[in-house]
Amino acid sequence: MQDTPSQDTNSKDTVLILHPHFTGRLAGDPSVAKSGAGRADKEQIEEIESLVLAIELEIVQTLSINISAIQPSHFIGSGKCEEIADLVEETKPDVVVFNYSLSPVQQRNLEKAFNCKVIDRTGLILEIFGARAQTKEGRLQVELAALSYQRSRLVRSWTHLERQRGGAGFMGGPGERQIEIDRRLIDQRMTKLKKQLETVQKTRDLGRKARARVPLPVVALVGYTNAGKSTLFNHITGSEVFAKDLLFATLDPTLRRVELPGNRLAILSDTVGFISDLPTDLIAAFRATLEETIYADIIIHVINMASDDVEAQRQDVIRILGDLNIEYEGNTNIIEAYNKFDLIADEDARNDWRRKEKFSDNTVLISAAKGEGIDALLKTISDKLAEHYHARTFALKPEDGEAIAWLYNHADVLEREDKEDQILISVQIDSANLSRFEKQYSKA
Ligand code: GTP
Repeated sequence: MQDTPSQDTNSKDTVLILHPHFTGRLAGDPSVAKSGAGRADKEQIEEIESLVLAIELEIVQTLSINISAIQPSHFIGSGKCEEIADLVEETKPDVVVFNYSLSPVQQRNLEKAFNCKVIDRTGLILEIFGARAQTKEGRLQVELAALSYQRSRLVRSWTHLERQRGGAGFMGGPGERQIEIDRRLIDQRMTKLKKQLETVQKTRDLGRKARARVPLPVVALVGYTNAGKSTLFNHITGSEVFAKDLLFATLDPTLRRVELPGNRLAILSDTVGFISDLPTDLIAAFRATLEETIYADIIIHVINMASDDVEAQRQDVIRILGDLNIEYEGNTNIIEAYNKFDLIADEDARNDWRRKEKFSDNTVLISAAKGEGIDALLKTISDKLAEHYHARTFALKPEDGEAIAWLYNHADVLEREDKEDQILISVQIDSANLSRFEKQYSKA
């Protein structure tokens, strides 16, 4: 199933999940624990289970295995390996999902030992992205990322084999030949995909340019997967974007025009959910998709405050935004919307959160599901936009056709009233265009 991420996953395959629980020296080693650092095992297990359910696989069992030392050949020790092989024999899953990154060699050895397909966390994330991509661009990007992931694994396993045989590469065994062929096929496919992607992106850029002519501010929602972005998006726009308890329900950004308090208009954009250990290839591939976020005027970071891993998830998102060259700390255009406030039951905790909200300009507590705190959030957005966008009403003469046309092209016209000797035009306009208009058409 790892080979073609866009294939149909409707038939319910069964899964055995293996979660490595690092003990002893490994537990405190940040390079090993990676995403595990500071994260509760319970949350990590819940997350991998949600990921598996996201592509509608059926879980036969989730097993946490203690790991005190990582074995280069199988990751887990031989005793554990046999135990799990017995379990696989008994429960007969279609695939074993390993909740960590495996080297190609470890993956293959585990497949042999279990006599069953094994995929690791990255492979699973690629699967989900493939199953969820909705637009042509999204699908192309996922396939490209999956291929580049596969290619890197081919290369690595190939050099590994070469090293084993003392570097006598020209002896060329059949395995090596096959890898060469696979690599060439992958390269050909990647070149073709890149070309297609360029065409799709060009069309997309045209769309963006058309939108830029009506310079509405863009407000982008970002957040860790399952934080509640789509629920919030739906609540604000009243539209039915695919909001389900499925991770990555949103893969392609969805854009809607929304009205904010004070008659202010903006485009709200919903984006893909972030996740720890997002494969680097995917981050690069999704850069284009995330462009709405990169160029957004305001970013709303939706945070699931009910998670045991609030801070770790928050940091993951901050790091990914950093990869997109978006500064976080001290950035007044970022609003943190702490969501699922309804799930905080403890009154002391609720009060602590309320205090945090009160003493920060950038923190809003909300419940997207219950519609609580949304008005305050919209007001905060509107206030921040007011620093960059202005509402103005111009009184123009009927013969000022050029100025009127200019406004239609460079501002968002909210209202127009044609009187006998003058035309009243109310617009929302950004600072740069406002000063340009005033300079160019000052007599108007
Ligand atoms: P991805 O598409 O994976 O990035 O997820 P998302 O951030 O768009 O999350 P989504 O809106 O799909 O919500 C995830 C789950 O959380 C759904 O089951 C929602 O019903 C639930 N949820 C969202 N907001 C709230 C809230 O305020 N309170 C509660 N109790 N549940 C919520």
